[in-house]
Amino acid sequence: MDREWYDKNYLKYKGMRMQARADRNRLRYHLMPPAGWMNDPNGLCQFQGVYHIYFQYTPFLAGWGTKIWGHYTTKDWLHFREEEPFLFPDCAWDRDGAYSGSAFVKDNQVHYFYTGNVKLTDRDYDYIMEGREQNTIHVVSSDGMQAGAKELALSHSDYPQDMTKHVRDPKVFAQGDSYYMLLGARDHKGKGCVLMFRSKDLSHWEYAQRMYAQEDFGYMWECPDLFTVKGQAFLLACPQGVEKKEHCYQNIYQCGYFTAEWDTQAGAYKLGEFQELDKGFDFYAAQTFEDERGRRILLAWMGMPDADYGNEATAGQGWIHALAMPRVLTVEDGRLLQKPLEEMAQLRKNHRHATLKTFGNQKTKDCCFELHLKFCGQADGLALWLREDVKLVYKGGTLALCLGKSGCKREKRTALLQKLESLTVFSDTSSIEIFINGGEATMSTRVYSDSLEQNVWFEDTDAAADVEWYDLDGILVQWKC
Ligand code: FRU
Repeated sequence: MDREWYDKNYLKYKGMRMQARADRNRLRYHLMPPAGWMNDPNGLCQFQGVYHIYFQYTPFLAGWGTKIWGHYTTKDWLHFREEEPFLFPDCAWDRDGAYSGSAFVKDNQVHYFYTGNVKLTDRDYDYIMEGREQNTIHVVSSDGMQAGAKELALSHSDYPQDMTKHVRDPKVFAQGDSYYMLLGARDHKGKGCVLMFRSKDLSHWEYAQRMYAQEDFGYMWECPDLFTVKGQAFLLACPQGVEKKEHCYQNIYQCGYFTAEWDTQAGAYKLGEFQELDKGFDFYAAQTFEDERGRRILLAWMGMPDADYGNEATAGQGWIHALAMPRVLTVEDGRLLQKPLEEMAQLRKNHRHATLKTFGNQKTKDCCFELHLKFCGQADGLALWLREDVKLVYKGGTLALCLGKSGCKREKRTALLQKLESLTVFSDTSSIEIFINGGEATMSTRVYSDSLEQNVWFEDTDAAADVEWYDLDGILVQWKC
């Protein structure tokens, strides 16, 4: 799909955009595709004051299809603009999809690196050892809106010989006097890892090294990211093929991080134990960037590839998936904490303060609210109803999120906690995000209730907490049409 084809077809799909926008499940303060499909956030950066949020996008199909890069901008995280799509698969290196990638701001330009997906169909392939190419492509832009000429940074023959055809999702950053590129990969032995390439000029890349977990951890790692917060380095990745355990790795694929020790000169490295970022049903492909204020901001796809639970409710209305709300990363005791971006507080209205005992029954007309619980006695026994068939329970050290019919086959996710001190719940029309203990972990899920008029209430228990409630307004998006 090239730009010309998109422009020619765009107006034909106006009806689909109108249908999507009128859907009652449309989220109020999350980014969604204007219509069609959205998955990973891509190319995140702040350039000359403007935040750029690109994303994996099939504009005319609310299902899996050939990916282009959609594009939103914002200056304040409250007002957004839908921009023209940024990348199209329009050359031999990316003809079957402009896949995920990152942005790197240098001087007065933004350098983008992404995966060009090429899938052969002339005969039966296994698509692991053969049948596809994943090229790393470099484009430069002076305004974040128009991409310059595509340059092939790396092709499959530049990846180590013992890699399968799954090598993708470049993330570029600077360290010392070099630039580094991470790529998520699957090796011939079926082990997931990240590959690292090095460059002095962002154009010529040489293989530097790879990183594996200390013990085998899945067959493929997607969407890697490496960054430092308060002097501690973290490697983010989405491992596929990790075995389920009680309370851990409950989704088909994982999204989380390793603490990383890494000596760029000697190449020596050590990854700590993997920690899941999110314990809910819908959270994947998280990526971060540092903004001009020095905040490490994380965005993720609020979805899960290949999951057996559904999103038919919105797919039938011409759109599917969204991004999770933006989060700022901080560190405490070597662990990452995710905090809601402080700008989100400007969406608050109608504050109410209560205790768990006096809270009673809070009616909500649109399910858009923020709820804080600060436990001031025991937390054990907490049973919080967020909707008629959505319940959050804490008992014996386990926090459980349980969904009924509105979960569309999402039933239960649990997190084992050493203690429960606080919970913050962000509810939107068709999503719930729960921040546990100041963001030590989150639980994010989509939910499709028959009605948005719901009651929020606590079962009578011995748990004791201070409760703050806010209704939330929506963000504003200026649409192209
Ligand atoms: C992760 C992912 C990436 C890939 C992109 C394709 O969700 O599979 O590995 O680049 O999505 O849309």
